Formats: sequence, structure tokens, C-alpha cells
Amino acid sequence: MIDRSWKLLDLLGEASGFFASRELENGRLQAELLLSAALGIRRLDLYLQFDKLLTPAEVEVFRGFVRRRLEGEPVQYITGEAAFRLLELAVTESVLIPRPETEILVEAALSFLSERAEPRVLDPGCGSGAIGISIACEHEPARVTVTDIDPHALRVAHSNAERCHALDRMRFICGDLFEPLGEPARFDAIVCNPPYVRTADLAGLDEEVRDFEPHLALDGGEDGLAFYRRIAAPASLLLEADGGLFLEVGGGQADSVSGLLEQSGKYEGIEVLADLASVPRVVCGRRRTGLE
Ligand SMILES: C[S@@+](CC[C@H](N)C(=O)[O-])C[C@H]1O[C@@H](n2cnc3c(N)ncnc32)[C@H](O)[C@@H]1O
Repeated sequence: MIDRSWKLLDLLGEASGFFASRELENGRLQAELLLSAALGIRRLDLYLQFDKLLTPAEVEVFRGFVRRRLEGEPVQYITGEAAFRLLELAVTESVLIPRPETEILVEAALSFLSERAEPRVLDPGCGSGAIGISIACEHEPARVTVTDIDPHALRVAHSNAERCHALDRMRFICGDLFEPLGEPARFDAIVCNPPYVRTADLAGLDEEVRDFEPHLALDGGEDGLAFYRRIAAPASLLLEADGGLFLEVGGGQADSVSGLLEQSGKYEGIEVLADLASVPRVVCGRRRTGLE
């Protein structure tokens, strides 16, 4: 029962206070994101309406969002939206929340593709579609194929592509890694952020990740490298003669993944790129010249 009128600014203060008491980072920003979603307005528009009195129904929706956040649910799942590079993407519990680290992976691939007129790109394990849709939007001539083993995730990627006006340049395929692609499928770049958490480490992840993000998107097998092993050699068969493979890796995995590309004998110019926190985050290499 709500027994008084609430000013927008007071509600923001109340929620920020709850978040601060739980030591949640950027509590005020999180409160603003939740309130703008509850009211169906842009966050910046909150600033024009600090004195507005909210209806009891609006207060209830917002407080429901705040309760979910206090129970550990990430803001992005509550609002249903996540920012990635230039895009505002829909996210559901079927997809990983796209991470800032992955923006580095996209940056590396875009720079590699910049001189190519109409490159073909593959994003296996697309989740929300963050990687593939960004490439389709930021290098418009690109033709992008995305795959995911989870049909629900693929549906999210499809609706995000529609929302970002990239649908006409994209293809969506459900299945296990490269299996559903068929022949011939030659790409200028394969850009992939596979699951890379060790199975035994899943239980010890932050609860926001462990309890809310899909384990299918996280579980990288016994040593976290299962997908890199499955990708290293077969990806070279899908690349054009001068194509490139771009892989996001977990903290501490860059040497092992570079080693896998080296050992496959299929790549040259193997490089490791660091993210903004100086953590080696992307391993990339060009298809070795002279391969069949
Ligand atoms: C780490 S998430 C990356 C999602 C998205 N590309 C991103 O960077 O935000 C890995 C994705 O791979 C998908 N996946 C897991 N196993 C797969 C498989 N065997 N074949 C294809 N996709 C798979 C998951 O459903 C999940 O969407």
C-alpha cells in the first residue's frame, strides 16, 4: 500500500541509498537506469522531471525492479537492455550480457576488415548478436553469419538485428559451432567469444553471473579451453586465403590459446591484444598462406 506521493528525485535517492548500503558500484546510475526503464523514458529525460510526482503504479514497478536488483539480478536483465559499442541491444536470460572486453575483439576485427569491400564474417556463438551486429552496422558492406546452439539466443540476436536495421545483411543459423554451415562457406573473418570458464569454476563465479547468466554461454569445459580446441584447426578451413581468426579469451588463457593456433600449423602472424585493463584478451591470426 502506498500512502504518500513520491517525487522522482526522492525515489532515486531512496534506491541509491539501498544500493550504497549493499556496496553496489555506481548505485545512482543503476537507480537511474531502473527508473527510466520503469517509466519507459530515456535516462537523460529523468533530469528534466526531478520534481514530477509518480503514480502509485509507477512506484510499484520501480520498487519491484529495485528489489530484483537487491536480490542480485543484473540491471540489464531487469531493464531488458544492454549497451554495446554503438548499439542498445535487447537481452533476455537466454543470452550473456555483452561485456566491454568484447568491444576490443570487435575493434580488432573491424580494423582487419577495413580495407575489404564486402567482407563475409562469421560470429559463432552469437548470443545477443553483439559481435556480428556491431560488425554489420559499423562496416556496412559486411555480410555476417551468426550461429548459436541455443534457438532462444538466436531469436534474440535476430530481433536485435532487426532493431539495429542490419537484418538484410545477416544470416542466422542454429546449431553446434561450425557444423550447420555446410559447404562451401568461406569467410574473411571469424570472430568468436566462446564459453571459456572452467567447469569447476562455475560454482565460484560472482552470484550475479552464476545465478542469472546462462551456463551454456559460460562453460568452457574442464580446463576452459574446450571451444578453442574445437575452433583452432577447423576454422582455417572456413577462412578465405587471407582471412583472419579473432578469439576472445579469458584471463590467463592467451598463451594457451596462441599455443593452440601455433600447434594447428594453420595460422601466421599470431598476436595477442590486451583490453583496457591491460589483460591479454584477444588472440588473432591470419590463415597461413599456401594452405589447401
Ligand atoms: C560467451 S557467450 C558469447 C555471446 C556473444 N557472442 C557475446 O560476445 O556477448 C557464448 C555463446 O555461445 C553459445 N554456445 C555454447 N555452446 C555452443 C555450441 N556448441 N555451438 C554454438 N554456440 C554455442 C552460447 O549459447 C552463447 O550464446
